[in-house]
Amino acid sequence: MNFAVFVSGYGSNLQAIIHALNRGQLKGTLGLVVCDRRDAHALKRAEKASLKTLFIDPQKYANPQSFDREVIIHLKEEKIEYIVLAGFMRILSPHFVRTYKNRIINIHPSLLPSFRGAHAIDEAWAQGVKVTGVTVHLVDEKIDHGPIIFQKAVGIRPHETRESLEARIHQVEHVLYPRAIDLLIHGRLKVVGRKVAVVS
Ligand code: GRF
Repeated sequence: MNFAVFVSGYGSNLQAIIHALNRGQLKGTLGLVVCDRRDAHALKRAEKASLKTLFIDPQKYANPQSFDREVIIHLKEEKIEYIVLAGFMRILSPHFVRTYKNRIINIHPSLLPSFRGAHAIDEAWAQGVKVTGVTVHLVDEKIDHGPIIFQKAVGIRPHETRESLEARIHQVEHVLYPRAIDLLIHGRLKVVGRKVAVVS
């Protein structure tokens, strides 16, 4: 039940995870926060919460594989069993994904498989969809692709702005993600092919 959270940016999901841990809604140990950007606000949130952090500079590694190998060394040192991606802006190597098969979770601000990639909210907004949402999924070797754990729709309101939509999507994320993490780290997700069932 020892997990790491990987971040690159603002860290609002990390904050939601910290709150859920503090309130006992999420039971487990956040053993390490891994960040690839020195100036990420998420790193400050982790430090404020007195969490163990690892800043790892991608520029110091010749390729993504060597970066990932270094991260794995730290994860093993800290006895991390599960990986939670929360706005981590790097693609994990196949080796990394295989090492933690079905133990890496991601949150994405759209109803996958619609709007994969880093600009999901902008693309949904530009497309004029009436419904978008949030997906929590296990990570496999393809981007924003692994078996889906939870999805929640967010309808676009008549006077919605791009900013209000983003805020409402984040609100949903902050509720959904701690719940999914709790299920994952307590072994309550059964994965068969692309189907994920919650078991008791
Ligand atoms: C979230 O919208 C998440 O779905 C996506 O990246 C964003 C991270 O936001 N993967 P934050 O850094 O947690 O505020």
